Amino acid sequence: MKLKHCHNFHDFRKLAKKKIPSPVFHYIDGAADDEMTHIRNTKAFDDVDLVPNVLRDVSKIDLSTTVFGKKLDLPFYCSPTALQRLFHYDGEKAVGRAAAKFNTMFSVSTLSTTSMEVLAPIDAPKLFQYYYHKDKGLNDAMVEKAKEANFDVLALTVDTITSGNRERDFRTGFTSPPRITLSSAFSYVTKPMWGINYLTKAKFELPLLKDHVSELSNVATSIGDYFGNMLDQSMNWKDAEELKSKWGGQFALKGVMSVEDAKKAADIGCNGIIVSNHGGRQLDGSRSPFDHIAEIVDAVGDKIDVIMEGGIQRGTHILKALSVGAKACAGGRMYLYALAAAGQDGVEKALGIYRDELERDMKLMGCTKISDLSRQNLRYRN
Ligand code: LAC
Repeated sequence: MKLKHCHNFHDFRKLAKKKIPSPVFHYIDGAADDEMTHIRNTKAFDDVDLVPNVLRDVSKIDLSTTVFGKKLDLPFYCSPTALQRLFHYDGEKAVGRAAAKFNTMFSVSTLSTTSMEVLAPIDAPKLFQYYYHKDKGLNDAMVEKAKEANFDVLALTVDTITSGNRERDFRTGFTSPPRITLSSAFSYVTKPMWGINYLTKAKFELPLLKDHVSELSNVATSIGDYFGNMLDQSMNWKDAEELKSKWGGQFALKGVMSVEDAKKAADIGCNGIIVSNHGGRQLDGSRSPFDHIAEIVDAVGDKIDVIMEGGIQRGTHILKALSVGAKACAGGRMYLYALAAAGQDGVEKALGIYRDELERDMKLMGCTKISDLSRQNLRYRN
């Protein structure tokens, strides 16, 4: 199987599985507890049917939207994800450059494996995903780095106050940097190209963290332990407000699910919220963003940008979320399998497929621009 054989999300996932060691694959693929929320995130889209209109001149389609004051050519973008250098040796560079080709936004995690300096010149809107640490020196340093690198948006992650229970990672012993144990050795030996690239390409490290903590860059650590030991569990609304004023630019909360929190986010002056359950990787049993997006849009959609992420695998999924009222959609696995499968080429192909699907779906719906999409063209089965 090759990139040319990949026509959808599932194909990229299959190819990724072939290319990368299984502990790394399962880190991307896995979620919390019984992974029910992860499954529901995608299943939720099936409970809503599309009702198309016809005879509306759909010869020209405009997919552009504006979020955080930035015009994007596509109403979807790449969510922040950690440790991309483990998935492909070009890591965050590959994703950023692919996003730039489509003039959409890409995001960089605090747990990025590429420095802000390297990513700064990429000509695309950039979101920095901020993890609030106990180490206040590290917190301030990250704000400065993001400012120096001219990031457009800072998104404070609010759904990782402690790590979700990711049992696949326990079973595989996944850590960063990867620790090869007797039981996992076979899975690395069977992917020699991954191993060669890991050892010969740019050194694996987490540039935003390495001068402050050795975990994840030099001391093999699980994401669960990192979240549990390093992040500040006393983080509260006052801290969010303070961070917002230190940053001074477009500011979002990532991982808001309740209407109450969405309203508070608007009250403290957030420019947007990202409705998300962290890809089902945190609280299993939490509601899927698509099931919930209407409530949030009705409460705050006229005040702030509401972005929906979670479970997106098809153009129709994006179309449904936008029809309910999300300003844009985003996803992690949506492009990560493609990154693992084929680097920048893979991500470009994935983004191109979602764009083409969405454009086709808009035509079939009788809609020419995002503002034409509305709940009038949706029917909930129950
Ligand atoms: C995760 C974090 C790092 O879900 O975003 O693994």
